[in-house]
Amino acid sequence: MATAPQLSRRTFAQLLGMGAGAALLAPVQGRGGEERLAAWARGEWRPAKLLPKESANLVLLNSNENPYGPSPAALEAMVEAHSVSMRYPDYWADQLQERLAAFHGVDPEMAVVTCGSTEVLKLAAMAFLAPGRRLVVPRPTFEAMGYYARLAGAEVVEVPVGPDYRSDLAALARTARERPGLVYLCNPNNPTGTLVSAAAVREFLTGVPAESVVLVDEAYYHYPDDPGYGTLLEAVRAGRNVVVARTFSKIYGMAGLRLGYGIARKDWIEKMRPHQVIESWNVMACAAALASLEDTDYVNRNRRLNQEVRDALAAAMKKRGREVIPSQTNFVCIHVGAPVRPVIQAFREQGVSVGRPFAGLEEHIRVSLGTPEEMEKFLAGFDRVMASAAARRI
Ligand SMILES: Cc1ncc(COP(=O)(O)O)c(C=O)c1O
Repeated sequence: MATAPQLSRRTFAQLLGMGAGAALLAPVQGRGGEERLAAWARGEWRPAKLLPKESANLVLLNSNENPYGPSPAALEAMVEAHSVSMRYPDYWADQLQERLAAFHGVDPEMAVVTCGSTEVLKLAAMAFLAPGRRLVVPRPTFEAMGYYARLAGAEVVEVPVGPDYRSDLAALARTARERPGLVYLCNPNNPTGTLVSAAAVREFLTGVPAESVVLVDEAYYHYPDDPGYGTLLEAVRAGRNVVVARTFSKIYGMAGLRLGYGIARKDWIEKMRPHQVIESWNVMACAAALASLEDTDYVNRNRRLNQEVRDALAAAMKKRGREVIPSQTNFVCIHVGAPVRPVIQAFREQGVSVGRPFAGLEEHIRVSLGTPEEMEKFLAGFDRVMASAAARRI
């Protein structure tokens, strides 16, 4: 695959001015699959906009998606998978389960292939929570876990993040010791974009009762550049009380295909699996996932592009005197100094969709990192929205 040229770190205009961004972003319209793949290899392709009418002209920086879409290898695999789309997906899901297990060095019985990684969260809630048991979560964090816990009849206990916006592991462990249940640790955390180091999580595990289930959501696993960061898969391999959730929705660019997976001890996977919808997989997603796992160039390229855009956005905000929460993910929280709901609405009126409001971040917007071109539009909208906020029209 062609490697993406290095991008400047100063402004998005400069990023685009170097030609690299512009070439990368040039839409290739009306071409067939093969030509599109070749265009991708030349760094000239971007996904077609097949979006609902109301969002067709919006810059979508609201759901932490990968703006470049799936890997060319995944696209090719999906084209091939059309020929087996009349078949039920068991064979493909089995293949993927085996491949994921080999990829992570665990037995196949320790892996469950799911409809997005949110399904892992749901399976864990159904298997390990019930009335009288409780879920302990940081606040703020990804809300789906709390939602499924309440569905299971469990109490949800929120532990505020620390002053540096990192999950407060000591407080989480203390709270978990009060009553057995499930502890959810999103690492790096959504929406703060912060992480806790692998060493700190290992220490945290020693402070959590062995009968508690610790679900570590590694949806953003591929994005951090902090050397202290690491997966908790080694704890699973060591037989610890940990479930790791991963997704193909983020760096693999497959959010619309719905594919995730969980890795945990065999007996826990056996407890979780019966709560799945029967045949909840699909052959397209499985084929795309199998191909994506092999395309490490693609993952590295996306990580690099994301870091460059993240650095450029941080620099642009610094120039404007705006505080950002240092991010290790593909989204950034920016302090806007005004109540967030009307600010989100004002961005929408500027053609930019930013993230939803989060409890505990009343004056921050969460902005997903798009292409340099999209971030240019975001910055133009940001200046207009902040000017009206300053004029107290927000
Ligand atoms: C932390 C976290 N986990 C899981 C998900 C959902 O992923 P999936 O699309 O795999 O269900 C998201 C989506 O934004 C997320 O932020």
